[in-house]
Amino acid sequence: MIKKNTLIQQQQPYNQQINDCLLRKKNITLVIKREDLLHEHVSGNKFRKLYYNIIEARKKSYDTLLTFGGAFSNHIAATAAAGKELDIKTIGVIRGDELGNNLKQTLTENPTLRFAVLQGMRLHFVSRKVYRHKTEPDFIANLSQLFGKFYLVPEGGTNKLAVKGTEEILTREDDEFDYICSAVGTGGTIAGLINTAKPHQKVLGFPALKENFLHNDIAKYTHSDNWELIRDYNFGGFGKINKDLVEFINMVFTLHDLPLDPVYTGKMMYGIIDLIKKDYFPKGSKILAIHTGGLQGKAGMNIRLKKKGLPLLVE
Ligand SMILES: Cc1ncc(COP(=O)(O)O)c(C=O)c1O
Repeated sequence: MIKKNTLIQQQQPYNQQINDCLLRKKNITLVIKREDLLHEHVSGNKFRKLYYNIIEARKKSYDTLLTFGGAFSNHIAATAAAGKELDIKTIGVIRGDELGNNLKQTLTENPTLRFAVLQGMRLHFVSRKVYRHKTEPDFIANLSQLFGKFYLVPEGGTNKLAVKGTEEILTREDDEFDYICSAVGTGGTIAGLINTAKPHQKVLGFPALKENFLHNDIAKYTHSDNWELIRDYNFGGFGKINKDLVEFINMVFTLHDLPLDPVYTGKMMYGIIDLIKKDYFPKGSKILAIHTGGLQGKAGMNIRLKKKGLPLLVE
């Protein structure tokens, strides 16, 4: 069998314009770059961030990828799927040792981890305390003792090669926009956008988490100051959600045929619309929002919403 060098795009992303009376009233153009369509299971920024890392792993003859993530991580699901497609073994180091106590129950209840295992990923659960050491040499050396040689992809997939991939999101046809918006987790996606945005464009990042460390992480990979983080739309922290956000995501899906995920793109879009209402953007502005994928996370979120008695996301 001839091994593929890396991932292959299943669909060309396209720019979807949103038509809405708020946008007409405020004289704003809002377009979504549907990067989520790049690949069924390695969608959006996951495709971009894994692309050159897999080429590198192949070049260096690694047959195993090891990476890190939480119980509902898009990156874990995507890495597992990429491994299956390319015949590369995958290991997921998962935050939360309690999940490993009853694996059968975990896999029954958690669609992300079940999917990862079905793709052939081997899961290794560690406590939240241990997980914090995931970038330290001793911790990595322990993993090498357990699993042998592997190509390490950091949490969220962000490293230099990931940024090389996310630098391919914007194309020449996007030069007409004044603002480029993206959800932010570990910063690799926005770093690529910052590096390739034109001088007249401003990049706005909407962090999905509350913590403040992101600015330095992004600055590490970028060489321009054409960007800003808007921290008002994390809804209380990573993975946190409320009725308002669920209803917003469902409304956007119904009215505009635009599926959003609850952890990243839903919060970004909520933020963009709120800022438009508050006249943050000058009249006549053209905004391009990047759809970074992550729709696999809806199923897991619905299980949590059901437990809390909140309305569910339409899937
Ligand atoms: C759907 C989605 N959007 C945005 C992000 C944030 O990307 P980054 O970690 O590169 O900031 C992630 C995390 O990878 C994600 O899964």
